[in-house]
Amino acid sequence: MKRGDSVKGIETSYRDHTCGELRKSDEGKEVHLCGWVCRRRDHGGLIFLDLRDRYGVTQVVIDPSAIGEDGAMARSVRLEYVVQVSGRVAARPEGMVNPSLETGEIEVRVERLRVLARSEATPFQIEGPIEASEDIRLAYRYLDLRRSELQRNLHLRSRLMKIARDTLVSRGFIEIETPILTKRTPEGARDYLVPSRVHAGKFYALPQSPQLYKELLMFGGLDRYFQIARCFRDEDLRADRQPEFTQIDIEMSFVAEPDVMEVTESLFFELFSSILGIELDRPFPRLAYRDAMERFGTDRPDLRYSLEIVDFTAAFADTSFKIIRGVLESGGRVRGLVVRGGARYSRKEIGDLESEAKKGGAQGLLWAKSTGEGWSGNVGSHLSDGELGELSRRGGVEPGDLVLLIAGPDRVTSPSLDSLRRSLARREGLCDDTRQQFVWIVEPPLFEIAEEGHALSSVHHPFTSPADEDVARMEDDPLSASARAYDIVLNGVELGGGSIRINRRDVQEKIFAILGMKEEEYAHEFGFLLEALDYGAPPLGGIALGMDRIAMMLAGADNLRDVIAFPKTTAAQGLMEGSPSDVNDMELKELHIKRLDNSGGLE
Ligand code: AMO
Repeated sequence: MKRGDSVKGIETSYRDHTCGELRKSDEGKEVHLCGWVCRRRDHGGLIFLDLRDRYGVTQVVIDPSAIGEDGAMARSVRLEYVVQVSGRVAARPEGMVNPSLETGEIEVRVERLRVLARSEATPFQIEGPIEASEDIRLAYRYLDLRRSELQRNLHLRSRLMKIARDTLVSRGFIEIETPILTKRTPEGARDYLVPSRVHAGKFYALPQSPQLYKELLMFGGLDRYFQIARCFRDEDLRADRQPEFTQIDIEMSFVAEPDVMEVTESLFFELFSSILGIELDRPFPRLAYRDAMERFGTDRPDLRYSLEIVDFTAAFADTSFKIIRGVLESGGRVRGLVVRGGARYSRKEIGDLESEAKKGGAQGLLWAKSTGEGWSGNVGSHLSDGELGELSRRGGVEPGDLVLLIAGPDRVTSPSLDSLRRSLARREGLCDDTRQQFVWIVEPPLFEIAEEGHALSSVHHPFTSPADEDVARMEDDPLSASARAYDIVLNGVELGGGSIRINRRDVQEKIFAILGMKEEEYAHEFGFLLEALDYGAPPLGGIALGMDRIAMMLAGADNLRDVIAFPKTTAAQGLMEGSPSDVNDMELKELHIKRLDNSGGLE
């Protein structure tokens, strides 16, 4: 259903049509409409109002002198008043037709008007381009929600949920709700904790995901589960992260990777064909994690354009250029990008690119322009002819090109080149915005050291199965073990992730031990899971898709806030209702919680 289509069953005791559905064929009909006044023109004799509801806009015409007391009322009507009108549908006079409005061929000649609610002047203009700050819009979200863009997005989100439900149910999945007051499920973020009143000093955690419950449902023989699941993560927020978000969460028994991937692809196929009318090519391409990092510097590459990273390290094997020699001696590499025709870039533009690279942690950007007569740039004069020749050969450099280099360990060069690559694609217009480029990123490592000097952590979560061939040797060389995990990426945005799970107690215990947990610790945290693995756990796997992110991509929005009815700010606040909010001492006492004074001590 689109805005403007006629909707069956919306008649109420107030209205018999919506503001989006009347057409020329309805001429002469007696109708009752309700809506918000979104435009008002007083032409002396006649008052023209545009009435808006979720379905569209209809122009109504009032002759105040012809409708008695209602006429006086009509003169007092202002923008955003909620009114009910009764009248007759008339074709608009020649020259007054508005082709940009679906109801633009008609108007309603009002015979009765009732003001259902008045409105103050709104803090920002609701129709047309918006200039108000994001904070004001969030504080008055119910007004922002009247705007057609948000209405469209929320409608799209509702269709997305329905298509997901229908597709999964048709494939034998059943929808099961899992608890919101739970025990910790590690997904790499901080938990939101809820104190227990009944059990002093104990806390529930809000789920970061339903991960353990969905596995236990498979152990319970439910075979195929899904849930449109609310998840909570206390982490630093960005445009594509909210503290409270929704997953299309899926788990299946008796499966290997291709089974989960096929279900996921069929879900995306349905979504894109129903909502955007786009037939996606299946199967989606697969790219090994290591190749993605090597060629694009990230595990969520945007493959709508090529611009691949080149390893130039070998060109500098005997270099006397100090910066590079230092990096190579400490085990780093020199990697870079070749920008075709980039020799035209000014110093200022290259400075901007350097700032992009620094976002990924690079200390600086080395660059060389191939001019045809030689080389220029901050690296050109430091390199020998042999090195420059080798640079050209490896990068396929031609006169007029720009070579951008970053030297350092991979943990610096990869994110810096990823940031640079995305920025160059925007500048050079490399990206075909009409393309929907999905890719599976497969075989990631099982463990990582997130920050230098830190302990091992799971790349996905600790319930992810290692590759069969790595089970025996993962204790000796954990960083070389691969995970049976997969992420689904669209146009450089991670839309979902999942894995084949561990269904053997010994393997699960080994993973906990490699992660540095003592037996008492993991028995305390995950004893119920380990015990469940003793009672017949089927081979299982699943995936969770970020529903807000999918809605964002389908809507063509660039922030999750635009597809969530009541989103939080980047500081995790609800600006309209004022959350989080204070709690008084009595309530805290009941929850067995004492306040810290400003110095961090207990009051
Ligand atoms: P993961 O942590 O990868 O996997 O989450 C799955 C997907 O959820 C979305 N997502 C978010 N969306 C908005 N705001 C956030 N803060 C946020 N965090 C995650 C992303 C992400 O790809 N239990 C596993 C799945 C599994 O193994 O089945 C999990 O939650 O789109």
